[in-house]
Amino acid sequence: MLRDKVCIVTGGAQGIGRCIVETFAKQQALVVFACDMNPQSMADYRERFQNVQPVELNVCDRKAVAAFIAEIKEQYGHIDVLVNNAGITRDNLLDRMSEDDWDAVVNVNLKGVFNMTQAVAPAMIEGGSGSVITMSSVVGTDGNIGQSNYAATKGGVIAMTKGWAKEFSRKGAQVRANCVAPGFIKTPMTINLPEKVIAHMESKTPLGRMGDAEDIAEGVLFLASDRSRFITGQTLKIDGGLVI
Ligand SMILES: NC(=O)c1ccc[n+]([C@@H]2O[C@H](COP(=O)([O-])OP(=O)(O)OC[C@H]3O[C@@H](n4cnc5c(N)ncnc54)[C@H](O)[C@@H]3O)[C@@H](O)[C@H]2O)c1
Repeated sequence: MLRDKVCIVTGGAQGIGRCIVETFAKQQALVVFACDMNPQSMADYRERFQNVQPVELNVCDRKAVAAFIAEIKEQYGHIDVLVNNAGITRDNLLDRMSEDDWDAVVNVNLKGVFNMTQAVAPAMIEGGSGSVITMSSVVGTDGNIGQSNYAATKGGVIAMTKGWAKEFSRKGAQVRANCVAPGFIKTPMTINLPEKVIAHMESKTPLGRMGDAEDIAEGVLFLASDRSRFITGQTLKIDGGLVI
């Protein structure tokens, strides 16, 4: 489904990002750049996949992001898919949330997405096609206790994406922008939550379980591929019915 496509996935070392990288590689992408701050966790990629390139990159570092994207443009001449997946949480009730917790989450989840997309979009527009997929969350549409910072960023990316859908296609380019909003997914981000919280969330989910990273990667693959060629500005919820 991704033959000949040049793809970039941020936060590609673990969890949902790792699963997206592997799914794209198996779908015969020309190359998948797995970008993460944690290179040790990506050491296996080169021996397992010929078409995955691990890259140490902090999405908050605008200079490093610009230099990396310029290199890819130079080497391949086109960029087809950007998945803004890197994200963090620093949860606390509003009255206890520190300025550092606010800034850290906004910096990665919102400014990181801005940095990456701003660097990549011109190449897509120039090339006449492309797909930008940004990881939101059901928290970005419906909010959650203790996640003011996270909710602001995950709602913010939905709003940015709607604007981009209009902006990127202004001159006729088939450059699409969409979000995926996962529900409650089994990854290192959620694995240490208390058993009680997990049981409660599962009981609130009509399909009765936490999602797997694969459940999310399938949706991202669809939005990355030409099978979703007439879909832009949308948010695809993948949550087992948690938020209806
Ligand atoms: N797990 C869930 O239940 C869930 C639900 C909704 C949305 N999401 C979103 O999905 C995305 C992936 O979540 P996950 O559960 O796989 O998380 P995770 O914590 O398992 O993985 C996130 C990855 O992002 C990387 N990262 C963090 N900051 C970075 C930076 N500045 N630059 C580059 N890489 C950075 C980390 O090193 C890590 O490898 C996130 O955006 C998250 O908010 C997750």
